[in-house]
Amino acid sequence: MSYLKSLSASIMLATALTACSEPENSSDNATHSPQATENQPIQTEQYSLENWPKLAPAFPKDEKLEARIAALLSQMTLEEKVGQMMQAEIKSITPEEVKKYHIGSILNGGGTFPNNDKFATPDDWRQLADAYFTASMDTSDGGVAIPIIWGSDAVHGHNNVIGATLFPHNIGLGAARDPDLIRRIGEATAREVAVTGVDWTFAPTIAVVRDDRWGRTFESYSEDPEIVAAYAREMIKGIQGDKNTEEFLDGRHLVSAAKHFVGDGGTTRGIDRGDTQVSEKELAEIHAAGYFTALESGVQSVMASFNSWNGKRLHGHKYLLTDVLKERLGFDGFVVGDWNGHRFVDGCSIDSCAAAVNAGLDMFMITSEWKALLENTLAQVKSGEIPMSRIDDAVSRILRVKIRAGLFERDRPLAGKNGILGSPEHRAIAREAVRKSLVLLKNNDQLLPVDARQKILVAGDGADNISKQSGGWTISWQGTGNTAEDFPGATSIYTGIKQAVDAAGGQVVLREDGALAPEDFAGEKPDVAIVVFGEDPYAEWHGDLASIEFQLGSKQDQELLQKIKAQNIPVVSVFLSGRPLWVNKELNLSDAFVAAWLPGSEGAGVADVLLTDAEGNKRYDFTGRLSFSWPELVHQTVINRDDEEYAPLFSYGYGLDYASDVQLANNLNEDGESYVDGALEDAWLMVSRPQAPWKLFIADGEQDPVWVSGNLASSADDNITVASIDMLSQEDARALTWKGLRAGSVVLETQKPQDLSRYLNEGAALTMDIRIDEAPVAPVFAQISCAGEACNGALPLQSTLQALPQGDWSQVTIDLQCFAKAGADFSKVSQGLSLHSEGKLAMAVANIKFVPGAAEQAQIRCGS
Ligand code: BGC
Ligand code: BGC
Repeated sequence: MSYLKSLSASIMLATALTACSEPENSSDNATHSPQATENQPIQTEQYSLENWPKLAPAFPKDEKLEARIAALLSQMTLEEKVGQMMQAEIKSITPEEVKKYHIGSILNGGGTFPNNDKFATPDDWRQLADAYFTASMDTSDGGVAIPIIWGSDAVHGHNNVIGATLFPHNIGLGAARDPDLIRRIGEATAREVAVTGVDWTFAPTIAVVRDDRWGRTFESYSEDPEIVAAYAREMIKGIQGDKNTEEFLDGRHLVSAAKHFVGDGGTTRGIDRGDTQVSEKELAEIHAAGYFTALESGVQSVMASFNSWNGKRLHGHKYLLTDVLKERLGFDGFVVGDWNGHRFVDGCSIDSCAAAVNAGLDMFMITSEWKALLENTLAQVKSGEIPMSRIDDAVSRILRVKIRAGLFERDRPLAGKNGILGSPEHRAIAREAVRKSLVLLKNNDQLLPVDARQKILVAGDGADNISKQSGGWTISWQGTGNTAEDFPGATSIYTGIKQAVDAAGGQVVLREDGALAPEDFAGEKPDVAIVVFGEDPYAEWHGDLASIEFQLGSKQDQELLQKIKAQNIPVVSVFLSGRPLWVNKELNLSDAFVAAWLPGSEGAGVADVLLTDAEGNKRYDFTGRLSFSWPELVHQTVINRDDEEYAPLFSYGYGLDYASDVQLANNLNEDGESYVDGALEDAWLMVSRPQAPWKLFIADGEQDPVWVSGNLASSADDNITVASIDMLSQEDARALTWKGLRAGSVVLETQKPQDLSRYLNEGAALTMDIRIDEAPVAPVFAQISCAGEACNGALPLQSTLQALPQGDWSQVTIDLQCFAKAGADFSKVSQGLSLHSEGKLAMAVANIKFVPGAAEQAQIRCGS
């Protein structure tokens, strides 16, 4: 077994857990947010409301409304009141329980459907909504009838429902620079949601994203408050209706949630749920800009953010939630938490968090543990830990919104009008949005528009792939696991191209890998190739990146472009992505390059702009302009319009049209290695999922490696199994099981060896969260290895793992020097980590990374 040959006998692992500092308390690292290892955050306790505008309340005080609220409140028991403050996930609560516990709200998370059925029809949705509503109004056990409010993430259309119109994600809308379009999209989305009986959408996201490595960059309109503020105003008008008219919350218009308050787009290194370390002035002027206009439009709910501001979690931030949002900014709706987000507040757990209520949180998004949280909150009110006045305020706010939204009367003019979902009118708006979102970055020799009468090769794995063009938050949470059948009524980019070419009398052939068959174009060379490629879907932290290099380590799309170029066929690249990425190599290989973002269900909008009509004339021009700066160098991870030294490749506002005659040189800097000139940051091998360039494989004995791409994979006889599991949030960890039939490994590997010597030199440690479910019975090794001979370093790990508490998460940290001393050559690492077991073992791992400077505190150390 070659693996064992490479084991160095000289390992100093007797030091395991002896020379070490105390392992971290496992509850301390009960956060997947890498900030736990960051330097101490700046403490800013010197707040000043002067940093915030003093806003007039959106609604003058309505005495009749307030009297109705007071009357309801006076009849409610404490149990009923606290019940109103709970929002449970539909998977975890029945209508019967809603009635019994007087629950105020439910949600369906991304990828949760009525009856657990992905293909649930609009009628299924509506019937379930009716069942919860009826239960909430049922007073047969006594109590006050208060309608439940159902919230859902309709973030680019009613994206959890099969057949809904899917609009471009926000980043594409930002490029469209069209506030009126945004209002119409909000309106169309609300109508589609209303059909299904859902009352409330958790949208819009009005984050102002500063570091594009954040996995939610695509949910943001812009890096600059200018567009975010203009859009927030209109999107909320669209969803809720104009507050000065009869249409406001009329059942065709629904409750909106501005999210995530506040600073979600400003976290250090773009880490999801991380810490936003900025001054109060910057927080207000940059990150909160969208809230001022959202409030002006009368937004009825605001979602608290997962992130911290200078080390303090928003869910427990009384100053920001109460003093700023509710008082200074005059917000009279309610603050809802994010998915169990209260648990991260100091002193809180998932089922107990008085601090969040006291800080101003009005409704907990508590998903499954609602019963325990309900009971603990009740006890905290009884003990005086939470003042009764705070409960009354929270419930009044919830009632205010429910009354304004007409939920008591349940006037639902659109419920059951299923034809509205995915209607031609709405699809037309989405297609218009696609056209307007496209940004033309390169058009050498004015290759575009493509004459649709020509011979056109269409290639790339995004060409005929509605799932890929739709991104995350599409049917499933991550946007993964969907096929063409899941998008009735939608059009891929290729379908749109084909329609245009057929109409003009040209010829089109789709070859994903660019390889022409002899019969294609009757053996003639195509005139032009349109290659559609880009990022695969992701959501939230699953999409966080360590580097902005597109396809770091795997160059499959470059190879495709090269192959086509080599035949002297002009190349139009259509790039699908949720953010600007470093694509200099791809740009150099393209004659024209279009940033198409994540267009959604109406892929035909792309061909509308790229291809001519039957006379060879352009049909639509490019009007999209960048709302994010595009990097020129691979280390430009934080590059924003207002930077003092601003040197992007394409500036904020850039975008060519058919009148422009601009040649872009084909020799853009391709030196991706220059990235390491920057400050050394954590190198993530796996955070929720493997981080590029690393991929996860099972290497079981002599068998071919099994690539782990979905959430479950195993080798022959299920000897080794890798399954996605939840540590803190959905699918953020992997369970690794060895049956012990053969020795074998689970490996994070890259095709392109990585030079990681700086990590070794800068005192980095390998850190990972581990939970032992069944302790190892035979030797286990952790190995870092390289492509060549005699450069592998393996450390015995069995006793370390045996010493860990079973069933609990703990962090294991190993000085990288230990691997070097065991023989690992860090200048060309191809296996960032391999876990090898010779016998039976069941464990889970999460958050695998190299953390600079962490060696000194490592549990397993080997001196320098
Ligand atoms: C996200 C929110 C979303 C909520 C409900 C959270 O994880 O951060 O944006 O509204 O889940 O799905
Ligand atoms: C839900 C998402 C949510 C996420 C947060 C998922 O299970 O479907 O809506 O945002 O968990 O952890």
